[in-house]
Amino acid sequence: MREAYDKLLSGNKKWSEEKLKQDPDFFKNLTLGQHPEHLWIGCSDSRVPANEITNTKSGEIFVHRNIANMVVHTDFNLMSVLYYAVEVLHVKHIIVCGHYGCGGVAAAMTNKDHGFVNNWLRNIKEVYHKHRTELEAIADLKQRENRLVELNVIEQVQNLGKTRIVQNAWKKQELQVHGWVYGFNNGLITDLHVMMDETNDVQPIFRYEL
Ligand code: CO
Repeated sequence: MREAYDKLLSGNKKWSEEKLKQDPDFFKNLTLGQHPEHLWIGCSDSRVPANEITNTKSGEIFVHRNIANMVVHTDFNLMSVLYYAVEVLHVKHIIVCGHYGCGGVAAAMTNKDHGFVNNWLRNIKEVYHKHRTELEAIADLKQRENRLVELNVIEQVQNLGKTRIVQNAWKKQELQVHGWVYGFNNGLITDLHVMMDETNDVQPIFRYEL
């Protein structure tokens, strides 16, 4: 048990030494501040680390992760991250990145009781319910789950477009919202091509007079 814990600290030491070897100013530069151009909204899953799978460095991506990369408008944590990323950091891209084999999505497709997590998974069940005709036409359960992963990402991209924060940004700055899905089978990201920007098609009822 202790070993698993110590591994992180010794790993950090080694990493810091290597970084300094590659670039003696690496940490000095980090102290100067951050100017990330991307906000990443991803799954908490340990196999989907934003920087690692996009081959980016510290300082390049502002990150928020939760179970199944959800954008829930009553989530003050996500909304604070979104506000800061857009209003202060002026990120140019928001990326919702889901992944095939997502445990949260798989759990939401069942009727199993997941205790407290039911409250969170409920949001994914709503996505399922909205698209149940399409989903239930897919006989293969794995394929159905994969499609729900995609539909869930698309839904979260649209949820971002429904926020005042994003709509307000579209009035004054460049901001694109993208939907991606990552696959463990080959390590590749698929762009779902559901990009939203100031020329968006947010449903009228969700538009604010800003
Ligand atoms: Co997941």
